[in-house]
Amino acid sequence: MPSFDVIIIGAGPGGYVCAIRCAQLGLKTAVVEGRDTLGGTCLNVGCIPSKALLHASHSLHEAEANFAKMGLIGAPPAVDWAQMQAYKADVVATNTKGIEFLFKKNKITWIKGWGSVPAPGQVKVGDEVHEAKFIVIATGSEPSALPGVTVDEKVVVTSTGALALDRIPQKLVVIGAGVIGLELGSVYARLGAEVTVVEYLDAITPGMDGEVAKTLERILKKQGLKFILGAAVQDVSVTGGTASVRYKLRKNDKEDMLSADCVLVATGRRSFTDGLGLAALGVELTPRGQVRTDSHFATSINGLYAIGDAIEGPMLAHKAEDEGMALAELLAGRAGHVNYSVIPGVIYTTPEVASVGQTEEQLKDEGRAYKAGKFPFMGNARAKAVFQGEGFVKLLADAETDRVLGAHIIGPAAGELIHEICVAMEFGASAQDVALTCHAHPTFSEAVREAALACGDGAIHA
Ligand code: NAI
Repeated sequence: MPSFDVIIIGAGPGGYVCAIRCAQLGLKTAVVEGRDTLGGTCLNVGCIPSKALLHASHSLHEAEANFAKMGLIGAPPAVDWAQMQAYKADVVATNTKGIEFLFKKNKITWIKGWGSVPAPGQVKVGDEVHEAKFIVIATGSEPSALPGVTVDEKVVVTSTGALALDRIPQKLVVIGAGVIGLELGSVYARLGAEVTVVEYLDAITPGMDGEVAKTLERILKKQGLKFILGAAVQDVSVTGGTASVRYKLRKNDKEDMLSADCVLVATGRRSFTDGLGLAALGVELTPRGQVRTDSHFATSINGLYAIGDAIEGPMLAHKAEDEGMALAELLAGRAGHVNYSVIPGVIYTTPEVASVGQTEEQLKDEGRAYKAGKFPFMGNARAKAVFQGEGFVKLLADAETDRVLGAHIIGPAAGELIHEICVAMEFGASAQDVALTCHAHPTFSEAVREAALACGDGAIHA
């Protein structure tokens, strides 16, 4: 008899959510995790600590930029970096301990250590071999290496080092204008660093709606971030704590150099499956090194499954969570499904950026006839009251059926507003359905309704 029904390797959002749902569905469940705390990259060195620093640095920005306008007089606060780090650590600890509590509550066994799969149905941790009917790989991802760049996590850092710097850099060069680069670039710009972002492509945030990307670039420039676009970083050298970043402009091959006391490498992540023994087991991988799975998360080996950043698809905590839940349902003999066409993406800058579904660019490529209803936050009373009138909501709907196809929001609380559209899309709603739904006044959400109205006879406050 195997010792467990399911052993999940990795306790990030994919693994821990899968474990909780497996346990809730009556499966005897264990999770192998080698970190001292549960929660994986997201809770320990990713989403959660970065949100703490974004919140703290945004609060400072509010004090500096807007307090006096509201009659709140006094010197803006100074930054106690050690205390800000302690606050961040506290936020992380509360959340990781929360997962530990949930494991105990759901009677999930935490096998501490790094696991490998020596044979189908077996997980080896240290000298012990545990057996299970089902094994789930939820080992996540790690920052991709960039040729010519050696990370020391002190001067040249990945997101992990950038969240735990021993000082606020004076000059920060960010390589890559993706999600990590812009979020952490914003943090340090608000804390006083001179931030330059070097991006290979000609626009920031690849894959995002073009109009949103342009608006975000303009707003971030106003906040003090500098951008060098169409530039490929060639290498980074470090002497005596100062880094030199050599880049080449793609349009004319002209080379130039930037110097900085900190360089953040944010050029993407890759699936992490090292040490699992997958090659020896004969597990099929994709050409990009992800574990290949079928639509039910099964790998090429019987009883072995994989979810989250370790497999194909967007590297997002919530995508991993959804896969974890769907797989648990399947393992328990029920139906489990992830709707990959309704997975929101959020960038937690100020203003926030959020999107779901197709972009205008994708719809044009597809040759699909669509309507775009747009509403600026300048027409939203609540947004103006809190100095966040920049940005807009753009809703895309099928030209004929009016069915909502996507939404792209840049503005206050965009990361919350997007879910109204996610629900609408899951229910196959039309833009008119959203437009006819009463929205409380005064809320940011009214901008979503106005964008839906703009898909029909017109927004009221535009
Ligand atoms: P990314 O893929 O979002 O962006 C990387 C950027 O680096 C791209 O724009 C790329 O063109 C650029 N680049 C690549 N090589 C370059 C070079 N040699 N010189 C200059 N630029 C270069 O990757 P990022 O920001 O590292 O994030 C990794 C993953 O983590 C993503 O999948 C992201 O979705 C996820 N993540 C999500 C968050 C969220 O949902 N808020 C927060 C943080 C990460």
